[in-house]
Amino acid sequence: MKSSKSVRDYIRTIADFPHEGILFRDVTTLFADPRGFRMAIDQMLHPYVGERIDKVVGLEARGLILGGAIAHQLGIGFVPIRKKGKLPGTTISQDYKLEYGEAIVEIHDDAILPGENVLVVDDLLATGGTAEAGIKLLERLGANIVGCAFIVDLPELGGRKLLEKLGMDVHALCEFEGA
Ligand code: PRP
Ligand code: MG
Repeated sequence: MKSSKSVRDYIRTIADFPHEGILFRDVTTLFADPRGFRMAIDQMLHPYVGERIDKVVGLEARGLILGGAIAHQLGIGFVPIRKKGKLPGTTISQDYKLEYGEAIVEIHDDAILPGENVLVVDDLLATGGTAEAGIKLLERLGANIVGCAFIVDLPELGGRKLLEKLGMDVHALCEFEGA
């Protein structure tokens, strides 16, 4: 019998990770299911069918998994944005705020050519700080950001509003209430 499970149904919620009081939306259960994973990839790229995209950019960590699959499906190249110190070539860096403290992300300075159309992907949009840092790196390289695609949006944390204020086209496959 055909299952009518949606992408959202494959996501597992784990209470009190990584801190007490946090409901962690775990996409590993979605990634592990062949039907769920394919559905997620197909739905993430659906809004951009017919648009010219030169490269998919994935945000570490789970955005690397999604971005690789989306780039493969589109038949285009993939570029990682990684946490500080992981990329071997010459990089540019951008700091951003976390719940406690700060973090830094990097991209190879020759990964995108000025004017290239890129699609940014990650698993989850919360405050938008991670995606904003990625967007700043891409804009410094002269990329044209076609859109930002996520599996999950946590609307109460305001990330979508922040990215839309930056002029981004934002798509998420599902929402969860709470942080
Ligand atoms: C999580 C998630 C997003 C980010 C969203 O990553 O995978 O990348 O937080 O939060 P924000 O919108 O408030 O920036 P995390 O920082 O836990 O790191 P990881 O992906 O390397 O596990
Ligand atoms: Mg992340």
